[in-house]
Amino acid sequence: MDSQRWVVKLVVVAAAVALLLLPTAPPGGARREPDVKNNGQTFVFNYTLAKAVVEYASAVYMTDLTALYTWTCSRCNDLIRGFEMTCIIVDVQNCLQAFVGVDHNTNAIIVSIRGTQENSVQNWIKDILWKQVDFDYPNMPNAKVHIGFYSSYNNTLLRPVITNAVHKARKLHGNMGIIVTGHSMGGAIASFCALDLAIRFGSNSVHLMSFGQPRVGNAAFASYFAKYVPNTIRMTHECDIVPHLPPYFFFLPQLTYRHFPREVWEHEVDGTTIFQVCDGSGEDPNCCRSVSVLSWSASDHLTYMGVEIAADDWSTCRIVLGQSVEKLQMSLASNIVTSGHSVDVVIANDSLQVG
Ligand SMILES: *[C@@H]1O[C@H](CO)[C@@H](O)[C@H](O)[C@H]1NC(C)=O
Ligand SMILES: *[C@@H]1O[C@H](CO)[C@@H](O)[C@H](O)[C@H]1NC(C)=O
Ligand SMILES: *[C@@H]1O[C@H](CO)[C@@H](O)[C@H](O)[C@H]1NC(C)=O
Repeated sequence: MDSQRWVVKLVVVAAAVALLLLPTAPPGGARREPDVKNNGQTFVFNYTLAKAVVEYASAVYMTDLTALYTWTCSRCNDLIRGFEMTCIIVDVQNCLQAFVGVDHNTNAIIVSIRGTQENSVQNWIKDILWKQVDFDYPNMPNAKVHIGFYSSYNNTLLRPVITNAVHKARKLHGNMGIIVTGHSMGGAIASFCALDLAIRFGSNSVHLMSFGQPRVGNAAFASYFAKYVPNTIRMTHECDIVPHLPPYFFFLPQLTYRHFPREVWEHEVDGTTIFQVCDGSGEDPNCCRSVSVLSWSASDHLTYMGVEIAADDWSTCRIVLGQSVEKLQMSLASNIVTSGHSVDVVIANDSLQVG
């Protein structure tokens, strides 16, 4: 189909332009009073809660595992200072990192997941540009998803270890709510995690709040997702390119990726930051989809709600994580790390590569 090819080409050109602009873009994040625009939607966006959750999504990118373990990392501050870590998961081969713990302020179990971006967002964006839905999601007829994102959750330690950690925390603290978060590919993995936990622990118990996540499945998957995980907020920021990927082709309903609701679009209007609650379709044309393809930006991907949200070290992820694992193991062995409570540390150092 010619029109399809044309759109794909346009998308690629726009992505290339966005990548070229990356190094020259100014740092985002001027703090201004939030302004929530509901546009007649009854859905409530809780700014205070979102601000805490974005800090968790940012903290999971920290490579110093010892500082994460002791919750003394530079991003382990502000609204999330009182967090009680219960489990840290690291998969060195696949460059995955996640933690589970209890936030006593919001009275919720937090699951925060970092996705692999190896050493550059650019390469990763190039990879997902071409990806078509290619995998039948189990027990959901007609639902198709991106196999790389799905297997990063299903076929690694993440699934069993997160499930077990959540189960343990709920046994200890009562049936607390669960907030699952992640940024970028971490947001994609967090979606599969939230769906899995919702099926296991009940839809009312699970909230998903992702930041700048790509699309993960087709329309059938999006509608199952909306049913199982109704408490979902998918934050997008200004011209962030990643929520536009892999592309959505409204004229190819069977083949295309499609977002699930509910998007909340952070963007600036006349110098004021607005948090716009979008419609229930998942693909509200008046939210981030209103941004022209030529304006898509990679730098808007790296800041959400004024919080820097990306890897703190862009060297080869496996090497950095490997070194950090060794340092943590040494600290644990020599009791340098003292802590009033126990943290389960689960490290995969020989897993198969997924994706
Ligand atoms: C928003 O979230 C904060 C932090 O969890 C909570 O204290 C507050 O009650 C919530 N506000 C509303 C209106 O639900
Ligand atoms: C998902 O994980 C389960 C349990 O480990 C496994 O049996 C199944 O084959 C996995 N699914 C896929 C598509 O890899
Ligand atoms: C990971 O495995 C490699 C090869 O088996 C080994 O050399 C390295 O020390 C291991 N790293 C950690 C942190 O255990």
